[in-house]
Amino acid sequence: MESAARAVFGAYNYHEIRTPILEETQLFARGVGEETDIVTKEMYTFEDRDGSSLTLRPENTASVIRAYIEHRLDQRPGVQKLYYIGPMFRRERPQKGRYRQFFQIGAEAIGSESPAVDAEAIEMVVEFFRRVGLEGFRLLINSVGDGNCRPAYIERLREELKTAAPRLCGDCQRRAATNPLRVLDCKVEADQAIIDALPGIADHLCEPCRAHFEAVKGFLDDRGIAYEVKPRLVRGLDYYMRTTFEVVHGALGAQNAVLGGGRYDGLAESLGSKVHAPGIGFSIGEDRLVMSVEGEPGRVALDLLIAPMGEAALRRAAVMARDLRRTGLVVEVAEGKLKRAMELANKLGARFALIVGENELAAGRYALKNMTTGEQRELTPDEIAATLAAARNR
Ligand code: HAM
Repeated sequence: MESAARAVFGAYNYHEIRTPILEETQLFARGVGEETDIVTKEMYTFEDRDGSSLTLRPENTASVIRAYIEHRLDQRPGVQKLYYIGPMFRRERPQKGRYRQFFQIGAEAIGSESPAVDAEAIEMVVEFFRRVGLEGFRLLINSVGDGNCRPAYIERLREELKTAAPRLCGDCQRRAATNPLRVLDCKVEADQAIIDALPGIADHLCEPCRAHFEAVKGFLDDRGIAYEVKPRLVRGLDYYMRTTFEVVHGALGAQNAVLGGGRYDGLAESLGSKVHAPGIGFSIGEDRLVMSVEGEPGRVALDLLIAPMGEAALRRAAVMARDLRRTGLVVEVAEGKLKRAMELANKLGARFALIVGENELAAGRYALKNMTTGEQRELTPDEIAATLAAARNR
């Protein structure tokens, strides 16, 4: 999964960034939001020896933006496209697909407000899912507006919740007062009909936000990427603005989101940046992705297993293996009896097996066996390299 992410993201000109596992607690309180579940109840926070407060990162977008500001990445040319792979920590109730230490593969494009960048990020993740063989996923998208139109929508929601909230669950009653948007996230079955009847954000977007959302959808349509508009998709972090999206997968049960993402045009400023650094990104739950992908597509098969018969053959085999590995082929050398070596070649799914015995050493030609067809040919090392390369490219 990780090497596929590196390859696909690399093709879109994303580069890896590694941020610290620990950050100052303030970063997440300000970035993710004081009232969010993550900050109020899920962070692993502790006091450092000097009395400052540190937190194991619950997510990485705030950290990436911190690094962007601190290291003046805005002065580099072009949109900064960064990806990361690593552990995150949230003190949630563990269950299938939900862990206290979990892995994310994420990407952030910083420095552009263009809806084309949103669409490119979404396209990239769809291409990545294709590459790793994820099937049957659904892409959900929404717009949550911006600082211009959202406050009025939240006020409207607050008004409606005055009458609706008493019929909702306890969490929702609390959210109605502290963070009304979060009510839309509620998963409690009995609340759903009531929440569906609340006013939707789509009808409250200002003109620039509406145009942005239309443009994103248009770009996705151009690419033939299927999506569903979910007006209630507000996401659990406060930094989102305009585009939000999630990918859900049926294999996962209750914790069905494999990915969450969106645009966060005001995040840098809320972390103290003087430069405007609009961005969009996503994080894939790597644990959940692995659970969702059936079988083992993308596994690098063994190109060749070399079976040397005896000491002199082993020495020759070792050098041949090195030369073939230099060309990018995956090669294993297995000492021992020929029969055992062939069994191992089968078990490891090797494409070819090469027998290096005394006769072969003397003749300078070796028996290359195609493990799929059973065909065996005596070839020189150059012919062997050519045959393996051709088979790999097919
Ligand atoms: P998030 O929705 O909080 O977004 O997390 C993204 C993904 O991480 C989820 O969809 C899920 O697959 C996985 N995940 C979250 N919590 C857990 C857990 N306890 N156990 C296993 N997997 C989990 C973010 O983290 C944002 N930083 C995404 C983003 C990037 N937005 C813009 N850029």
